[in-house]
Amino acid sequence: MSDVLRVEGLSISFGGLKALDDLSFSVADTEVFGLIGPNGAGKTTVFNCITQFYRPDAGAVWFAPGAERLDRAGHHGSDAIDLVGEPVHRVIRYGLVRTFQNVEIIPELSVLDNVLIGGHVDFKASMLSQMLRLPGARKEEAQYREKAREALSFLSIDHLADQIAGGQPYGVRKRLEMARTLMAEPRLIILDEPAAGLNESETEQLADTIRQIRDRFGCSVLLVEHDMGLVMNVCDRICAISFGKFLALGTPEEIQRDVRVHEAYLGERDDD
Ligand SMILES: Nc1ncnc2c1ncn2[C@@H]1O[C@H](COP(=O)(O)OP(=O)(O)O)[C@@H](O)[C@H]1O
Ligand SMILES: [Mg+2]
Repeated sequence: MSDVLRVEGLSISFGGLKALDDLSFSVADTEVFGLIGPNGAGKTTVFNCITQFYRPDAGAVWFAPGAERLDRAGHHGSDAIDLVGEPVHRVIRYGLVRTFQNVEIIPELSVLDNVLIGGHVDFKASMLSQMLRLPGARKEEAQYREKAREALSFLSIDHLADQIAGGQPYGVRKRLEMARTLMAEPRLIILDEPAAGLNESETEQLADTIRQIRDRFGCSVLLVEHDMGLVMNVCDRICAISFGKFLALGTPEEIQRDVRVHEAYLGERDDD
């Protein structure tokens, strides 16, 4: 087994607060990996440090975009990249895509158009040729629309393609956001609390969808969750963190039994 992502010694502070403190973990090729912790543990901050929305104070984020993966002996391989310091648009082009904790859509656009804007990263035709409607650009646009429809169909919302995105129920907007990630031909998809706001049956469907995406696209998934239900159901391995520090790593069964994890969740503040 080899890794697609390796986080090494990640640290970041906000003012006096150490949001992440020397955190390390690895996500294996085609693995569904869960990152859990109580509210305020630093999960979203890990996310933002990986995708370079935040620049960590210390540490590395090794990512293997090509066929070659990071091997466990600590060799990073010739195509591995330390994402720290890379611009966000390049991170996406490497095949690392994310969804947001709050669904980000353009409400005035159709469901299909919202998916289309997500895949702009490999839209080769220039703006000029699009404006001039050159044959190459038209062909590319058609292929592109086809790909977006496939992504919608994969998430079972293709029948809503031409409807306005704004009025759709929350569950549909979540699916729309996931369809958008598929447009970027992901190596690694990072999902921040995808089950938040979903009911029990929607959460079960989401678990199926995550597995299907992994199987069909051969990518890895990093799932950031506060809620234990989904991670226990869908993850191969789980890393628990608390106050920005590593707490435990193991299979869902091992994490469920772990006393340190229970204590961390018990100590959670009620006002969150
Ligand atoms: N941009 C920021 N500025 C200041 N503090 C932040 C910022 N982002 C996160 N934090 C703080 O870092 C800690 C971890 O937050 P976060 O990563 O959002 O936790 P989680 O996603 O696990 O609930 C919290 O104490 C939070 O207030
Ligand atoms: Mg969060």
